[in-house]
Amino acid sequence: MMVMAGKLTWDAELYEARHGFVWELGAGLVDLLDPKPGERILDLGCGPGQLTNTIAGRGAAVMGLDSSPAMIGQARQNFPELSFILEDAAAMEFDEPFDAVFSNAALHWMLDAEGVARAITRVLRRGGRFVAELGGKRNIRTIVTAIEDTVARYAAGAIPLARTYFPALGEYSALLEGCGLEVRTAQLFDRPTALEGTDGMANWIRQFKWYYFEGLPAQQRKQALEETVDELRPALYRDGQWIADYRRLRVMAVKE
Ligand code: BEZ
Repeated sequence: MMVMAGKLTWDAELYEARHGFVWELGAGLVDLLDPKPGERILDLGCGPGQLTNTIAGRGAAVMGLDSSPAMIGQARQNFPELSFILEDAAAMEFDEPFDAVFSNAALHWMLDAEGVARAITRVLRRGGRFVAELGGKRNIRTIVTAIEDTVARYAAGAIPLARTYFPALGEYSALLEGCGLEVRTAQLFDRPTALEGTDGMANWIRQFKWYYFEGLPAQQRKQALEETVDELRPALYRDGQWIADYRRLRVMAVKE
Protein backbone atom coordinates (compact mmCIF):
# COMPACT_ATOMS: atom_id res chain seq x y z
CA MET A 1 0.00 0.00 0.00
CA MET A 2 1.25 3.46 -0.88
CA VAL A 3 0.02 7.00 -0.38
CA MET A 4 -0.37 9.08 -3.54
CA ALA A 5 -1.72 12.62 -3.41
CA GLY A 6 -2.94 11.88 0.13
CA LYS A 7 -4.91 8.81 -1.03
CA LEU A 8 -4.06 5.21 -0.20
CA THR A 9 -3.34 3.07 -3.23
CA TRP A 10 -3.72 -0.70 -3.11
CA ASP A 11 -1.60 -3.57 -4.38
CA ALA A 12 -4.51 -5.78 -5.49
CA GLU A 13 -2.19 -8.64 -6.56
CA LEU A 14 -0.50 -8.99 -3.14
CA TYR A 15 -3.94 -8.71 -1.57
CA GLU A 16 -5.33 -11.62 -3.57
CA ALA A 17 -2.18 -13.75 -3.33
CA ARG A 18 -1.52 -13.50 0.42
CA HIS A 19 -4.50 -11.97 2.19
CA GLY A 20 -7.40 -14.16 1.09
CA PHE A 21 -8.31 -14.60 4.76
CA VAL A 22 -10.09 -11.23 4.50
CA TRP A 23 -12.91 -12.69 2.41
CA GLU A 24 -12.59 -16.26 3.75
CA LEU A 25 -13.29 -14.98 7.28
CA GLY A 26 -16.03 -12.72 5.88
CA ALA A 27 -18.15 -15.70 4.78
CA GLY A 28 -19.91 -15.76 8.18
CA LEU A 29 -20.93 -12.14 7.66
CA VAL A 30 -22.69 -13.14 4.43
CA ASP A 31 -24.66 -15.67 6.52
CA LEU A 32 -25.69 -12.82 8.84
CA LEU A 33 -26.71 -10.76 5.80
CA ASP A 34 -28.78 -13.76 4.62
CA PRO A 35 -29.24 -12.52 1.04
CA LYS A 36 -32.45 -13.60 -0.62
CA PRO A 37 -32.98 -14.29 -4.33
CA GLY A 38 -33.91 -11.10 -6.14
CA GLU A 39 -32.83 -8.71 -3.38
CA ARG A 40 -30.88 -5.64 -4.43
CA ILE A 41 -27.67 -5.54 -2.38
CA LEU A 42 -24.69 -3.18 -2.30
CA ASP A 43 -21.25 -4.54 -1.29
CA LEU A 44 -19.52 -1.45 0.08
CA GLY A 45 -15.71 -1.57 -0.19
CA CYS A 46 -15.90 -4.75 -2.26
CA GLY A 47 -12.14 -5.07 -2.95
CA PRO A 48 -11.46 -7.74 -5.59
CA GLY A 49 -15.08 -8.91 -5.41
CA GLN A 50 -14.98 -12.38 -3.81
CA LEU A 51 -17.79 -11.69 -1.33
CA THR A 52 -19.76 -9.78 -3.99
CA ASN A 53 -19.63 -13.05 -5.92
CA THR A 54 -20.70 -15.09 -2.86
CA ILE A 55 -23.72 -12.80 -2.42
CA ALA A 56 -24.54 -13.12 -6.14
CA GLY A 57 -24.33 -16.91 -5.70
CA ARG A 58 -27.26 -16.68 -3.24
CA GLY A 59 -29.39 -15.23 -6.03
CA ALA A 60 -29.27 -11.51 -5.06
CA ALA A 61 -28.78 -8.70 -7.58
CA VAL A 62 -25.54 -7.36 -6.12
CA MET A 63 -23.35 -4.40 -7.00
CA GLY A 64 -19.78 -3.94 -5.71
CA LEU A 65 -18.47 -0.46 -4.94
CA ASP A 66 -14.90 0.54 -4.09
CA SER A 67 -12.87 3.75 -4.27
CA SER A 68 -9.68 1.94 -5.38
CA PRO A 69 -9.16 1.73 -9.16
CA ALA A 70 -6.80 -1.26 -8.63
CA MET A 71 -9.41 -3.19 -6.63
CA ILE A 72 -12.26 -2.41 -9.02
CA GLY A 73 -10.04 -3.38 -11.99
CA GLN A 74 -9.26 -6.70 -10.28
CA ALA A 75 -12.92 -7.30 -9.36
CA ARG A 76 -14.03 -6.73 -12.98
CA GLN A 77 -11.35 -9.12 -14.19
CA ASN A 78 -12.29 -11.77 -11.60
CA PHE A 79 -16.05 -11.56 -12.08
CA PRO A 80 -16.85 -9.97 -15.47
CA GLU A 81 -20.52 -10.95 -15.19
CA LEU A 82 -21.03 -8.84 -12.02
CA SER A 83 -21.45 -5.04 -11.67
CA PHE A 84 -18.72 -3.00 -10.00
CA ILE A 85 -18.46 0.74 -9.67
CA LEU A 86 -15.57 3.00 -8.76
CA GLU A 87 -16.89 5.58 -6.28
CA ASP A 88 -16.28 7.14 -2.87
CA ALA A 89 -18.81 5.72 -0.43
CA ALA A 90 -19.76 9.10 1.08
CA ALA A 91 -20.61 10.45 -2.39
CA MET A 92 -22.66 7.52 -3.66
CA GLU A 93 -26.13 8.11 -5.13
CA PHE A 94 -28.36 5.56 -6.86
CA ASP A 95 -31.70 5.88 -8.66
CA GLU A 96 -33.05 2.68 -7.06
CA PRO A 97 -32.76 2.01 -3.30
CA PHE A 98 -31.10 -1.16 -1.97
CA ASP A 99 -32.66 -3.84 0.24
CA ALA A 100 -29.34 -4.20 2.06
CA VAL A 101 -25.88 -2.68 2.30
CA PHE A 102 -23.10 -5.12 3.19
CA SER A 103 -19.51 -4.30 4.10
CA ASN A 104 -16.61 -6.48 5.22
CA ALA A 105 -13.24 -5.13 6.41
CA ALA A 106 -13.58 -1.87 4.50
CA LEU A 107 -15.29 0.77 6.63
CA HIS A 108 -12.20 1.26 8.82
CA TRP A 109 -10.44 2.78 5.78
CA MET A 110 -13.20 5.38 5.35
CA LEU A 111 -12.33 8.22 7.72
CA ASP A 112 -15.48 10.23 7.01
CA ALA A 113 -17.50 7.70 9.01
CA GLU A 114 -20.46 10.02 9.43
CA GLY A 115 -20.58 10.93 5.73
CA VAL A 116 -20.47 7.22 4.89
CA ALA A 117 -23.20 6.35 7.41
CA ARG A 118 -25.41 9.10 5.94
CA ALA A 119 -24.77 7.72 2.46
CA ILE A 120 -25.67 4.19 3.58
CA THR A 121 -28.98 5.45 4.98
CA ARG A 122 -29.59 7.45 1.78
CA VAL A 123 -29.20 4.42 -0.52
CA LEU A 124 -31.24 1.97 1.59
CA ARG A 125 -34.99 1.56 1.31
CA ARG A 126 -36.97 2.10 4.50
CA GLY A 127 -36.69 -1.17 6.47
CA GLY A 128 -33.54 -2.09 4.52
CA ARG A 129 -30.62 -3.53 6.50
CA PHE A 130 -26.98 -2.65 6.99
CA VAL A 131 -24.73 -5.59 7.85
CA ALA A 132 -21.07 -4.82 8.40
CA GLU A 133 -17.84 -5.81 10.06
CA LEU A 134 -14.88 -3.48 10.57
CA GLY A 135 -11.88 -3.17 12.84
CA GLY A 136 -13.04 -2.22 16.34
CA LYS A 137 -11.39 -0.26 19.13
CA ARG A 138 -7.82 -1.45 19.82
CA ASN A 139 -7.71 -3.43 16.57
CA ILE A 140 -4.12 -4.46 15.67
CA ARG A 141 -2.82 -2.41 18.59
CA THR A 142 0.30 -4.57 19.14
CA ILE A 143 1.29 -4.28 15.48
CA VAL A 144 0.69 -0.53 15.24
CA THR A 145 2.58 0.12 18.48
CA ALA A 146 5.63 -1.80 17.18
CA ILE A 147 5.53 0.05 13.85
CA GLU A 148 5.26 3.43 15.57
CA ASP A 149 8.13 2.56 17.95
CA THR A 150 10.39 1.66 15.04
CA VAL A 151 9.47 4.58 12.82
CA ALA A 152 9.96 7.01 15.74
CA ARG A 153 13.46 5.57 16.33
CA TYR A 154 14.40 6.38 12.74
CA ALA A 155 12.68 9.72 12.42
CA ALA A 156 10.77 11.28 15.27
CA GLY A 157 7.93 13.16 13.65
CA ALA A 158 7.61 10.76 10.69
CA ILE A 159 4.52 9.05 12.15
CA PRO A 160 1.71 9.69 9.65
CA LEU A 161 -1.75 10.84 10.62
CA ALA A 162 -4.16 8.03 11.45
CA ARG A 163 -5.50 6.47 8.26
CA THR A 164 -7.85 4.01 9.90
CA TYR A 165 -10.96 4.31 12.04
CA PHE A 166 -11.50 1.66 14.74
CA PRO A 167 -14.52 2.81 16.77
CA ALA A 168 -15.80 1.51 20.10
CA LEU A 169 -19.14 -0.31 20.04
CA GLY A 170 -21.09 2.51 21.71
CA GLU A 171 -19.46 5.20 19.59
CA TYR A 172 -20.27 3.48 16.29
CA SER A 173 -23.79 2.52 17.36
CA ALA A 174 -24.50 6.14 18.34
CA LEU A 175 -23.10 7.37 15.03
CA LEU A 176 -25.36 5.00 13.05
CA GLU A 177 -28.38 5.93 15.16
CA GLY A 178 -27.69 9.62 14.59
CA CYS A 179 -27.79 8.92 10.84
CA GLY A 180 -31.21 7.20 10.84
CA LEU A 181 -30.16 3.55 11.30
CA GLU A 182 -31.62 1.53 14.18
CA VAL A 183 -28.89 -0.73 15.57
CA ARG A 184 -30.35 -4.18 16.26
CA THR A 185 -27.13 -6.00 17.18
CA ALA A 186 -23.54 -4.90 17.73
CA GLN A 187 -20.64 -7.02 18.94
CA LEU A 188 -16.98 -6.25 19.60
CA PHE A 189 -14.70 -9.28 19.82
CA ASP A 190 -11.09 -10.40 19.52
CA ARG A 191 -10.42 -12.36 16.37
CA PRO A 192 -6.76 -13.45 16.34
CA THR A 193 -6.01 -13.86 12.65
CA ALA A 194 -3.45 -16.28 11.20
CA LEU A 195 -1.18 -14.82 8.52
CA GLU A 196 0.25 -16.95 5.75
CA GLY A 197 3.88 -18.13 5.87
CA THR A 198 7.00 -17.21 7.85
CA ASP A 199 7.07 -13.85 6.07
CA GLY A 200 3.38 -13.33 6.91
CA MET A 201 3.90 -10.30 9.15
CA ALA A 202 6.30 -8.57 6.72
CA ASN A 203 3.81 -9.12 3.88
CA TRP A 204 0.93 -7.88 6.01
CA ILE A 205 2.82 -4.69 6.88
CA ARG A 206 3.82 -4.17 3.24
CA GLN A 207 0.19 -4.58 2.21
CA PHE A 208 -1.60 -2.58 4.88
CA LYS A 209 0.82 -0.31 6.74
CA TRP A 210 3.55 0.58 4.29
CA TYR A 211 2.58 4.25 4.42
CA TYR A 212 4.31 4.44 7.81
CA PHE A 213 7.61 3.45 6.18
CA GLU A 214 7.22 5.80 3.22
CA GLY A 215 8.06 8.67 5.58
CA LEU A 216 11.61 7.23 5.98
CA PRO A 217 14.45 7.51 3.45
CA ALA A 218 14.12 4.64 0.93
CA GLN A 219 17.41 2.97 2.01
CA GLN A 220 16.19 2.66 5.64
CA ARG A 221 12.79 1.11 4.97
CA LYS A 222 13.84 -2.55 4.64
CA GLN A 223 15.87 -2.41 7.87
CA ALA A 224 13.05 -0.66 9.72
CA LEU A 225 10.60 -3.32 8.53
CA GLU A 226 12.90 -6.12 9.74
CA GLU A 227 13.26 -4.46 13.14
CA THR A 228 9.48 -4.12 13.46
CA VAL A 229 8.97 -7.79 12.62
CA ASP A 230 11.66 -8.76 15.18
CA GLU A 231 9.94 -6.64 17.83
CA LEU A 232 6.62 -8.37 17.13
CA ARG A 233 7.96 -11.93 17.12
CA PRO A 234 7.76 -12.63 20.90
CA ALA A 235 4.11 -11.48 21.09
CA LEU A 236 2.66 -12.63 17.76
CA TYR A 237 4.71 -15.56 16.39
CA ARG A 238 3.88 -18.95 17.90
CA ASP A 239 4.85 -22.43 16.64
CA GLY A 240 5.81 -21.18 13.20
CA GLN A 241 2.64 -19.10 12.77
CA TRP A 242 2.10 -15.34 12.74
CA ILE A 243 -1.12 -14.23 14.43
CA ALA A 244 -2.37 -10.65 13.95
CA ASP A 245 -4.25 -9.12 16.89
CA TYR A 246 -7.47 -8.26 15.06
CA ARG A 247 -10.58 -7.07 16.92
CA ARG A 248 -13.83 -6.91 15.00
CA LEU A 249 -16.90 -4.77 15.37
CA ARG A 250 -19.91 -6.45 13.77
CA VAL A 251 -23.20 -4.59 13.39
CA MET A 252 -26.68 -5.17 12.03
CA ALA A 253 -28.90 -2.11 11.68
CA VAL A 254 -32.12 -1.21 9.90
CA LYS A 255 -33.16 2.02 8.20
CA GLU A 256 -35.98 3.59 10.19
C1 BEZ B 1 -8.53 -4.89 9.47
O1 BEZ B 1 -8.94 -4.77 10.62
O2 BEZ B 1 -9.09 -5.63 8.65
C2 BEZ B 1 -7.32 -4.13 9.08
C3 BEZ B 1 -7.10 -2.90 9.63
C4 BEZ B 1 -5.98 -2.19 9.28
C5 BEZ B 1 -5.07 -2.72 8.40
C6 BEZ B 1 -5.33 -3.96 7.87
C7 BEZ B 1 -6.44 -4.66 8.20
